[in-house]
Amino acid sequence: MRRLTVIGLGLIGASCCAAIKKRATDWMISGYSRTEATRQQAVARGLIDHSFESVADAIAGADLVLVAVPMGQFSSIFSEIFQYREIQTVVTDAGSTKESVIREIVAQCEKMPEWFVPGHPIAGSEQNGVDAADPDLYVDHQVILTPCSRANADAVELVTSFWVLQGASVSKMDAKRHDEVLALTSHLPHILAFNLVHVLSDDNAHLDIFRFAAGGFRDFTRIAASDPAMWRDISLANHQSILAGIDRFVERLEKMREAIADADAEWIMSSFERARDARRLFSSLADQGVHPVTDSHPSVFTVTEAQKGITGKIRVPGDKSISHRSIMLGSLADGLTTVEGFLEGEDAIATIKAFRDMGVQIDGPNEGCVTIHGVGRDGLKAPIAPLYMGNSGTSMRLMCGILAGQSFDSELTGDSSLSRRPMRRISEPLSRLGAEIETSVGGSPPVKIKGGRTLKGCHIYTQVASAQVKSAMLLAALYAEGKTSITEPAPTRDHTERMLQGFGYEVTRDGVTASIFGGSRLKACHINIPSDISSAAFFLVAASIVPGSDLTLSHVGINPTRVGILEILNLMGADIEILNRRDVGGEPVADLRVRYGPLKGIKVPENLVPLAIDEFPILFVAASCAEGETCVSGAEELRVKESDRIQSMVDGLSILGAAIEGTPDGALIHGGGIDFRFSGGTVEACEDHRIAMAFSVAGLVCRETITVNDCANVATSFPNFVGLARETGFPLMVSP
Ligand code: S3P
Repeated sequence: MRRLTVIGLGLIGASCCAAIKKRATDWMISGYSRTEATRQQAVARGLIDHSFESVADAIAGADLVLVAVPMGQFSSIFSEIFQYREIQTVVTDAGSTKESVIREIVAQCEKMPEWFVPGHPIAGSEQNGVDAADPDLYVDHQVILTPCSRANADAVELVTSFWVLQGASVSKMDAKRHDEVLALTSHLPHILAFNLVHVLSDDNAHLDIFRFAAGGFRDFTRIAASDPAMWRDISLANHQSILAGIDRFVERLEKMREAIADADAEWIMSSFERARDARRLFSSLADQGVHPVTDSHPSVFTVTEAQKGITGKIRVPGDKSISHRSIMLGSLADGLTTVEGFLEGEDAIATIKAFRDMGVQIDGPNEGCVTIHGVGRDGLKAPIAPLYMGNSGTSMRLMCGILAGQSFDSELTGDSSLSRRPMRRISEPLSRLGAEIETSVGGSPPVKIKGGRTLKGCHIYTQVASAQVKSAMLLAALYAEGKTSITEPAPTRDHTERMLQGFGYEVTRDGVTASIFGGSRLKACHINIPSDISSAAFFLVAASIVPGSDLTLSHVGINPTRVGILEILNLMGADIEILNRRDVGGEPVADLRVRYGPLKGIKVPENLVPLAIDEFPILFVAASCAEGETCVSGAEELRVKESDRIQSMVDGLSILGAAIEGTPDGALIHGGGIDFRFSGGTVEACEDHRIAMAFSVAGLVCRETITVNDCANVATSFPNFVGLARETGFPLMVSP
């Protein structure tokens, strides 16, 4: 038997007891509460096996101790635990703020002990006390753990499995970020609800008011019936982040007050619309199991061998590169830009959010439609806080170009994957135009951009074949005096050049050189975004390697600077037909029909590498199933994508029994031919959406189940991947 001790038998602690009792028979539960009546009730309801009057007795012999007392009692409970804890005992807590808990523990122990794993179940109810214990309180809810870097891995594992057993999904996060996020998503709403009810109850006629209060009041104030002592403690423990949240809210409310007083219908409408769209997006992300509050997402994909072909006709979501650019140029244009086919993925949403933070009104996305109220070339406003770019390298790098030309200072930050990516490739060439950009010591984000610099056009030879670098230069060049020319070592995707022309801005192109004069203006337009060939690629390979497949991908962008994947698969012998070629808003588009066909290994021509740069993870999967050897070289850029894509694929494919060797600039893959099957196993997606999807495709030709960890970043580029994959016949399951 394992021994669990729960200190504090209120709603949170008692619900854990109830949940464990309902789902496991190998846990013995000891409970401690200060009040005798609570202890008796917990025993009587069968929530605990033994009750104790002292913390010391309760924790003796425990494997795991959960501290679930109000925040105000943490200090005294911890000091007792530290005094009496036995060597093997792991301790966690359920406090709603995490930095204050860590501060308290450090004050008592000098440094964070490795056996302590701070936690926060994001679940609750306005009910409290042992009577409210609910065995399903944590089902489908999130628990955030904030272990320190020296935390013991087994301790973290034990606490994780404790919450998973109760039906929760567990994420890890930095304690400071936890507190900042929760201040806005939980603490501020509670404070607002308490205060609204307070204001109404001050009214002498409040009984009448409450009698007539309908759904709006009920929905908004449900949480004002929560435990006041608990919320007093939280308000004090997380005061810094909460104060920042209150200030932001007060500022917003004052603006709304002014708008209502001035009868500014347009302002009110746009504010409400923006909130409505954000709320809809939140619901749709939540429906897809995406939890935007956390930095690390725990979704796990499991795939089993496809028993029949991958078939049907699907349309994958809009092109990510074009979606970013539509928001950027639309914001800087004069007038109203309308977009259809917009990718509603987290990366493109990060770009929208950044421009909203700089005062641009952007309506949507709503079923792929976005309307951007352009503020003109010089209309951006200084953001009040650093702009958070999430996982999106494209947003951060292209934004550097735009921000280099602004009158205000700015700062760009990102998630843990983006925070490792190289930014000097942007800051150095931009400094040649006169920009002042500071990266962190290793050349990675955060990136600080000085405003008010005078940019002067010049000729820049970029070191890497990167459309992001070229695009950042072109965007900065809009603000530079005179002519800027950019020559790249090899052609890369040219969406920026095409779209600038679509907005009526002249760009001249001569081979690998693009030139532009600064100072002109962009004219708003309509943009129809084709489906992303990089997303289609997963299905092109899936259908090529699963016998009996016949799949059509409609409306796919086949810009010549993006079709490396088609050329490479063609050289490998894939059966892909390009149908119904057409031009949509300056970008070539077609339907792609792909049927199963045995593939052969090839030496991938190096000139195709930049034209298929995002497709190598899935090409490595195709090459593993091909007859003979595939050699990829000249692709060292893969090492600095969302993950080191060479290493991520070599590690995972080796686990799955493929013969692959990484090289500094590519890989050698000895394909197994038509009878090849990956072995089963567990692989890591390494916070990288394309690695997650590539391994999911590998699962279609496996002898045993393939489990892919850390897949939630799929939502950055392909939010409905799971749905479309299942629709075409992937036996794919998702768990939190
Ligand atoms: C992109 C360019 C590519 C690509 C990325 C999107 C763009 O990066 O990998 O997913 O939209 O410009 P590099 O230009 O750095 O190769």
